[in-house]
Amino acid sequence: ILVVVIFAFVGFSGKIEEIQKRGVLLVGQDPAYAPFYGINTSGERIGHDIAFAKILSDFLGVKVKFVITNWDGIIPALMTNKFDIILAAMTITPERALKVNFTIPYYQTGQALMYNSKKYPDGLSIKKINEMGKKAKIAVQLGSTGEIAARKFFPNASILTFETVDAAAYQIITKKADAIIFDDLYFGSLSKKYPSIKMYDELLTKENLGIAVKKDDIDLLLWLNTVIETLKTDGTLEQLKQKWIID
Ligand code: ARG
Repeated sequence: ILVVVIFAFVGFSGKIEEIQKRGVLLVGQDPAYAPFYGINTSGERIGHDIAFAKILSDFLGVKVKFVITNWDGIIPALMTNKFDIILAAMTITPERALKVNFTIPYYQTGQALMYNSKKYPDGLSIKKINEMGKKAKIAVQLGSTGEIAARKFFPNASILTFETVDAAAYQIITKKADAIIFDDLYFGSLSKKYPSIKMYDELLTKENLGIAVKKDDIDLLLWLNTVIETLKTDGTLEQLKQKWIID
């Protein structure tokens, strides 16, 4: 009887079933993080993680809706049911994994130092920033792994935090800050818009991106892992990378 009860409970309270009954997969993201997500001139959300989310919702046979929140509140928002998953170029970290469960990785990145060559025509390096000591100003996104890396690798520098990635990047575009510490995947779209922005080629960290789900939603986690594995093997993830990241 106990087995039957447990079975019934698991069987009828699965997250996947909840999403399918609702007819919509709710995906948590912050406003913009090109080339993973952003808004094009016709007002549509586009990017690597948008295309990926649509693949997931197609498999589920539902629509997809993006729910926008601040980056530093995105994990609490998932934990309080504002959406089903975070699919937002989120780095898998042991600390975050205490609060949410992560899928297997779907992309690899690392923290990189980016600067404006109009301010630093001879280049800027990790060593040079350390030599600047307290005078070095580094802009980061609040709550990002870039913030963590900046504090760890540049303990003496002034770390300026911003709500969005674009606001932090603006600090080097306008030469107010010396550098930003961001995922290297952001560099392509930034340097395309602002060719004077350069990236120091040695990465501070190596990181994996994963999809985050609530601790209880084991059925969804296992299904997402299966999908990621399949999309890796059949080349779909590589195609998304070619289309959105390397163009
Ligand atoms: N991958 C980094 C992290 O997880 C940076 C994310 C940047 N912001 C974003 N909106 N996705 O912290």
